[in-house]
Amino acid sequence: MTTHDKNTTSLTEQPAWKALEQHYKTIGTIHLRSLFADDPQRAERFSAEFDDIYLDYSKNRITAETLKLLINLAEECHLRDRIDAMFRGDKINITENRSVLHTALRAPRDAKIMVDGVNVVPEVHNVLDKMTAFADQVRNGEWLGFTQKPIRNVVNIGIGGSDLGPVMAYEALKHYSKRDMTFRFVSNVDGTDFTEAVHDLDAAETLFIVSSKTFTTIETMTNAHSARAWLIKSLGDEQAVSRHFVAVSTNTKEVEKFGIDTANMFGFWDWVGGRYSMDSAIGLSNMIAIGPHNFKLMLEGFLAMDEHFRSVPLGKNLPVIMGLLSIWYNNFFNAQTVAILPYDQYLKRFPAYLQQLTMESNGKRITLDGQVVNYQTSPIYWGEPGTNGQHSFYQLIHQGTKLIPCDFIGFAQTLNPAGVHHDMLMANFFAQTEALAFGKTREQVQAEGTADWLVPHRVFEGNIPTNTLLVKRLTPKTLGMLIALYEHIVFTQGVIWRVDSFDQWGVELGKILAKKISPELESETEPELKHDSSTNTLIRRYRKMKNK
Ligand code: F6P
Repeated sequence: MTTHDKNTTSLTEQPAWKALEQHYKTIGTIHLRSLFADDPQRAERFSAEFDDIYLDYSKNRITAETLKLLINLAEECHLRDRIDAMFRGDKINITENRSVLHTALRAPRDAKIMVDGVNVVPEVHNVLDKMTAFADQVRNGEWLGFTQKPIRNVVNIGIGGSDLGPVMAYEALKHYSKRDMTFRFVSNVDGTDFTEAVHDLDAAETLFIVSSKTFTTIETMTNAHSARAWLIKSLGDEQAVSRHFVAVSTNTKEVEKFGIDTANMFGFWDWVGGRYSMDSAIGLSNMIAIGPHNFKLMLEGFLAMDEHFRSVPLGKNLPVIMGLLSIWYNNFFNAQTVAILPYDQYLKRFPAYLQQLTMESNGKRITLDGQVVNYQTSPIYWGEPGTNGQHSFYQLIHQGTKLIPCDFIGFAQTLNPAGVHHDMLMANFFAQTEALAFGKTREQVQAEGTADWLVPHRVFEGNIPTNTLLVKRLTPKTLGMLIALYEHIVFTQGVIWRVDSFDQWGVELGKILAKKISPELESETEPELKHDSSTNTLIRRYRKMKNK
């Protein structure tokens, strides 16, 4: 019996779920103002700390009872067993019959993790060693291009997990990167993406990393072929490809077919999901940018959070607490979205990265035993760095009609000390969670002498829940910890919702239809169209418009 079979009762029939429904009736309308007024210890009671990360979750609409019931739910859902099953390498990705072992990517050299009777840790370290040697060669100018020039530009070509992780981490760790090199990331099949990425680059100094787990993804392959053509045209010789292209993939055959020497291929494995792969060879561009030492520190951050997740009691466990709180709002308050609000410009792509991690993982409607869920699964994740968001969509969070729980992420130390900037940024960071929680009452607005008719417009209801993640400093290690934190939040959610967080069948249909439509757009003669009337008309209209 696998651990997910243990839950024979539907989630909404479980005692802890029922208890939470009852509990919601008493707490749903209580204001954070009274929760804070009633308990001077609240900030201490509802906070947790690990290494350089401090989590304040006291500005959530919870009591000690809520937390107890949420933890009961996690226990009834066998969260601890499921965590162990993942770390052990059980095939918990049941629809693809695969282990889920992104945690093995950061396991120490002497660890032992078995998949189908083989210890995968030595393979992981072989690839890391190969990446290290290559990254050093490129960084030191020893890897020469076809015309004997050193590499100055690195272009990663990939999409989804083969792009979002690398681009997010590059931006996040730019401070630590080799500034005399240029890094670009091409993902969209829109030719503009590739054209703009290379328009000012010298092909003789450019290295392309084609990153694709499957090496069959149409967007990536189209961009990779355009890159190949651009390089050959610029350097005038097909032989140039071997010095300017490397591959990151699990698919040796397709890499060979493309014409990349498999000696220049960096492998990973089917037990690493695309959106969980940025700390595998998919992070090669990052390793070149920040250097192998910093990359190793990032892996140590991941590992530290893994150990925390698998060993710390549920009530003090950061990913568990945050995962359960997201369920509290998603399933009991019917909140539909979560805002991710990093107060650090370097984390500008973090919300986009989390969108794939969270929504491709838990945007599911079928349970592990094949039933349609009768409850909500993943909320919509979105966000922008502070303070820009404050001058854009925060209005809706403060005074709109939707409840939007927010994660605020900020750093105590800035990487760019510049006068008052950092304290000002952080003043906004603290001010926003305070304003969201406590709002401004009618009485307070009146006391300011506001005209009666204007009073309602200036009232802030407050009671908007936030988590505050206050981190000492943005470093490779704390970035690794933050990413692993969210990976494990997603895992916790998936266990409660009983979905397979590691497949992504929902991306298939669009891909198949696009393949069918492509020749219909390209055909010289009028194609016979057999779609619905809307799609047929749009295709005809497009063909006419593009030829004019
Ligand atoms: O969007 C579907 C998906 O399979 C993602 O899960 C994955 O990260 C992305 O496509 C890219 O896949 P690949 O690395 O195989 O090119």
